[in-house]
Amino acid sequence: MHYLHAAITETLRLYPGVPVDGKMADEDDVLPNGQRVIKGDGMNYMIYAMGRMKYLWGEDAEEFRPERWLVNGVFQQESPYKFIAFNAGPRICLGKEFAYRQMKIVAATLIQFFRFRLEDER
Ligand code: HEM
Repeated sequence: MHYLHAAITETLRLYPGVPVDGKMADEDDVLPNGQRVIKGDGMNYMIYAMGRMKYLWGEDAEEFRPERWLVNGVFQQESPYKFIAFNAGPRICLGKEFAYRQMKIVAATLIQFFRFRLEDER
């Protein structure tokens, strides 16, 4: 289900379930961009904004376009540090694969029982 996987991922890029997330420094540290943080400092990263940054996603960043995730119809992973809807690194969402499974089941059920039309479709 490559296209459905791409459509769900594209939805989470533009409308992340966790739009902003926070972290706290366990110890004094220096971030990759040189910013110093002191133990106890809090910081947030904007998942919603990162999903819409043109320098990350290109000029069509605001467009819903599942095809951006596909090459010859096959889904291509992005770095989780770029597609950050599930966080990244050691604390990445443990339920990520399960969440995709659930969303696919819901989509399959809706498609089975309802016929969808675009609002402006004739
Ligand atoms: C679309 C659905 C979901 C999204 C967008 C999502 C997103 C996230 C994000 C952003 C975090 C990191 C939070 C942090 O910074 O501490 C996280 C952590 C986590 N998520 Fe999810 N999640 C989803 C569904 C699920 C589901 C269905 C489960 C369980 C079945 C789950 C289990 C967890 C767990 C256990 C963590 C903590 C991981 C850790 O701190 O080591 N998530 N999720």
